[in-house]
Amino acid sequence: MTNHIAITIPFQGGKPITAEVHTPTPKPNEILVRVLWVALSPVDIWISDYGAGDPKWPVVLGENFVGIVEEVGEGAEEFAKGDKVLGFQRGENKLNALQQYIPVSKYNLGKVPPNLQVDAATSTIPDNLVTAVNQLTTGGVKIPIHASIHPSTSFSPIDLSTPILIWGGATSVGQFTIQILHYSGYKNIIATASPSNHPLLQSLGATHTIAYGSPTTTQEILAAAGGKDVKFALDCVGDEDKSLKGVAEVLGEGGRVAFMLPVVRKSDKAEAIAGKELLWTADGVKWKDGVKKIGVRTFLYQQDTHLRETLQPSTIPRLLADGIVVPQKYWEAPGTTTRDRLEAGLDMLRKGLSGQRVVIKVD
Ligand SMILES: NC(=O)c1ccc[n+]([C@@H]2O[C@H](COP(=O)([O-])OP(=O)(O)OC[C@H]3O[C@@H](n4cnc5c(N)ncnc54)[C@H](OP(=O)(O)O)[C@@H]3O)[C@@H](O)[C@H]2O)c1
Repeated sequence: MTNHIAITIPFQGGKPITAEVHTPTPKPNEILVRVLWVALSPVDIWISDYGAGDPKWPVVLGENFVGIVEEVGEGAEEFAKGDKVLGFQRGENKLNALQQYIPVSKYNLGKVPPNLQVDAATSTIPDNLVTAVNQLTTGGVKIPIHASIHPSTSFSPIDLSTPILIWGGATSVGQFTIQILHYSGYKNIIATASPSNHPLLQSLGATHTIAYGSPTTTQEILAAAGGKDVKFALDCVGDEDKSLKGVAEVLGEGGRVAFMLPVVRKSDKAEAIAGKELLWTADGVKWKDGVKKIGVRTFLYQQDTHLRETLQPSTIPRLLADGIVVPQKYWEAPGTTTRDRLEAGLDMLRKGLSGQRVVIKVD
């Protein structure tokens, strides 16, 4: 029996510690991955600081990783020892990525294409690229990668000049959503973000970039939409006061909004989680008649069998190989050990970063 090092959070609010855990043999359809880089997300703070999801302590964090295939289970022979891989997996505690080795379902993994490295930048990709595709497809915005997701459906977009609002364009989810819409040919992609992120979002394909939280935000969005109400909106923030109300002001009768779950009422999502003020609908906001509201829960995307079998294994590697989607900006946590880097990374996430991911090198 062999063991490896995992970094665990011993109890809610506790600092990370180094622990020795059993290294499993991959089961059928699993691959054992040697983890090299992990990108953190807001979810890691909600779990470590606020006990979101009532975890069984101690907890291993990290759902987004890149690494090298160490061992291949029966039925997963499309992968081989030494392959460079990227993946997003939310599983039981032992399946999270801040450890040296994790067993990963072959559906939660893709090969890193030759134009990218197994590095900090590539680790920023999987979770929120999956979320962006899931948000667009469940939100009813047609994208050509439907062709690989649902081969029976050829790409028949809604009118490509239709204005599409991305509220929270600088979020990780928002940046990938803009890139996919741009690739799909949409010509009026309207994104809200802080002004410092406007050049980045324009470089990713946003047609209009608008500051949120200003007295003129609503008028600017309506003007960008050609003086009409918006018909499609993607809310990448999921906050009743700070995003959904703004979306509701510009979304017309019969419009569609896809929004990130859970929705919160307090402006600080972490505080809302601590106070259990999470909502699973957007009904707390006044919408115009006939608006269709679609809550997005990425962790359920594999209920669609075809999405499960294609999105991470083949669609994401293709989007990356073709340069349709590029990695995000990142902040690399400093420290001499994985434990120290995780502690520094969690501190940075608590302070908040603009338009960037926090990444941790795993020794
Ligand atoms: N349900 C799901 O499936 C799912 C999946 C993934 C993520 N999520 C949720 O989606 C949200 C975004 O996640 P993420 O990892 O993409 O976030 P993130 O990258 O950490 O988002 C940070 C960015 O949020 C932007 N922002 C904050 N408040 C805003 C507001 N009121 N209006 C517009 N932009 C605002 C800021 O943009 P500026 O710097 O430009 O101000 C900031 O750069 C999180 O709440 C996360 O929990 C849900």
